[in-house]
Parts: sequence; C-alpha cells; structure tokens
Amino acid sequence: MKFCGNCAAPLGNRCSQCGFENPAQFKFCGECGKALRSVPATGPLPAGLKRSLHDIRIASEDTVADVPVDGERKTVTALFADIKGSMELMEGLDPEQARAIVDPALHLMIDSVRRYGGYIAQSTGDGVFALFGAPIAYEDHARRALYAALRMQQENRAYSARLRAAGSPPIEIRIGVNTGEVVVRSIRIGDQHTEYSSIGHSTSLAARMQALAPTGSIAIAEATQRLAAGYFEVKPLGLTRVKGVSEPINVYEVIGLGPLRTRLQISAQRGLSRFVGRHHEMEQLRRALTLAHEGRGQIVAVMAEAGVGKSRLFHEFKLLSQSECVVMEGFSVSYGRASPYLPLIELFKR
Ligand SMILES: Nc1ncnc2c1ncn2[C@@H]1O[C@H](COP(=O)(O)OP(=O)(O)OP(=O)(O)O)[C@@H](O)[C@H]1O
Ligand SMILES: [Mg+2]
Repeated sequence: MKFCGNCAAPLGNRCSQCGFENPAQFKFCGECGKALRSVPATGPLPAGLKRSLHDIRIASEDTVADVPVDGERKTVTALFADIKGSMELMEGLDPEQARAIVDPALHLMIDSVRRYGGYIAQSTGDGVFALFGAPIAYEDHARRALYAALRMQQENRAYSARLRAAGSPPIEIRIGVNTGEVVVRSIRIGDQHTEYSSIGHSTSLAARMQALAPTGSIAIAEATQRLAAGYFEVKPLGLTRVKGVSEPINVYEVIGLGPLRTRLQISAQRGLSRFVGRHHEMEQLRRALTLAHEGRGQIVAVMAEAGVGKSRLFHEFKLLSQSECVVMEGFSVSYGRASPYLPLIELFKR
C-alpha cells in the first residue's frame, strides 16, 4: 500500500542505502538489511509553508518532515471563524482603536487552532479559515477542530467580559465546521508567499455553516456531527436550506463537551463484544492489586500495537476490581502535547 487507509498519510519506506521500497511497517530493509527510518521522507517544502508549519510544531514536532504538499486528496475538517458584525463594530472607531479591539480576538482564534494542531490557511483580518488533518494528517481531525472551536468561544467570552468592563462593545464570534474530502494544494503567490489551502464542496459548506451559526455559537454539518457523536454535546438546529446545496441539510450546534472521552467508551456505548482470553494479563493485574491491598503500591504499564486491546483490558480489570477500591482515571490525548499535565488535571477534576 502507498497510503495509510486510516489517515491517508503516504507510507513510503525507501531504504537510504539501496533505494528498495519497503512495506511501511518494516524496521529494516528487506533488500540489504539496513535500519530504516520510521518517518518516511518526502520532497522539500516551499519556504512559506515550512515557516508556518514551524509555528505549529508544538502539536506535531515529529511529523513535520512528513508533510505532502501538492494536489493531494484528503479527508479534513475545515473551520471558519468570524467576528460578527465587525463592520458595524468598527464604524465610528479610529483604525487604531479598531485594531486594539479586534486583534486580541483574532489572536485567540489563532492560538486555539494551533493548540489543537490545526493549520491557519487564511486569516481575513476579522476571522480565520483553518484546516485540521492537513497538511499534517490526524486521525481525530474533527474532534480537534471542535475542541479548538469550543476553546475560541470560551476564550472570547472571557475577552468580551473584559471589553465590557472597560466600556467597549463585546465581540461575538460565529464558527462553522465541516468534514469531508477535499484536495489540498499549495498555490504560489509571488516569490515570498505560498498559500496552502483546500478546495472542495465540504470546505465551502463549512463556510456556509459559519454564516448561519447563531451568534456566539458553533454550527456543524452532519459529517462532523457523526464523527463527534459522544465526544461533544450537540443540539440539532433542524433541516436547513443552504445556498449552493440542492437539498436541505441537517445542521447542529455544538454546546459543549460530551460525557465520553475515549474510543473504547464510544464503542462500549454501542455494546462491546464478549471479552475473550487475556487470562495471563488479567492474572498479572490481579496480582499487582493484591500486593497494593497489602500496602505495597504497584505500577503496571501495558504496551502493545494499536488496537490490540489495551484499553479493553483495563476496562475489564476495572469491572472486576472497582468494588474493592476507589478508581480514578486520567487520559492523555493526541492533541494534549501542549499541556503535559492534562492527564493529571483530568484526574483531579474527576
Ligand atoms: N480480549 C478481547 N475480547 C474481545 N474484544 C476485545 C478484546 N480486546 C480488545 N477487544 C476489542 O477490540 C477493540 C479494540 O480494543 P482496544 O480499544 O482496547 O484497543 P487498544 O489497544 O486500546 O487500541 P488503541 O491503541 O487504539 O488505544 C475494542 O472494540 C475491544 O472491545
Ligand atoms: Mg486504547
């Protein structure tokens, strides 16, 4: 295979010694035995893109080398955020005054996007257009976009409260999000500037969601809603006619975080398959618990390839042992690299 079936990242694994094209999972070259780099290399990036990718390093340090650039088909989540009525707001204000009010709002939008590994494709002066899932592929791009959107609204509410206290009118943001297949590509605009952006119906629909979002809210179309189900609390806004779309579509408003945090919790809600095997691992966990009960605290780490059942093992162990002890849980998340204490914060909050 040339591309990942999960996130569409290219899976090249060429040996630097003999040039042999190895399957993605190979650690050593099948032709000459040389150790292979785990991150596949791709062609050089245009200067402008390299610079802006550098800016989002926090969330993506180890994947920057892996960024494809030209005309690539991908599933991404697009986010449009815009200050409502910015023209009316600026009417009668000196440009410097307008800037002092608008810029902090713009910055909090940009910061929120970066925090969750998104890419600012465009900043319009009173809003942003951001991509999640490109140029850097993330499996959870829809969730990242919605976390960023929620953070924007939350930060903006705090900012508006400060504005009000200072006697200025508050700023309100409308956000639209949609997920779908697009072609992402970079367009060279002069020598200094390269724009990297997506084209496709789903991106235009994200912009439409923003236009119809109630003030201060986040509107999403169905594709994003399906991916976000369980992780976020949403309110249906009903079937809506959207300019440029022949049939009315279902629109939802994102209200806040939902009760579920992990993939396993989502599948548990749909009903888990019968738990099989894992007697040995279960026995090890029980033994550690017995020792802990005797006053000798234990730490158990479970390591395995993706999807082989680590979370499920813990889930089953919890079911067996939670009547005997207090269970506290914390999670780390893929977009949480900017806040290393996230698992602890979550644990304390619970
Ligand atoms: N022993 C088992 N018996 C039955 N089903 C299982 C077992 N182990 C795992 N599964 C099922 O396989 C799926 C993947 O398991 P799980 O989510 O625990 O994997 P994971 O190792 O935590 O994956 P990831 O690395 O993506 O976090 C789940 O639907 C889970 O219910
Ligand atoms: Mg897991």
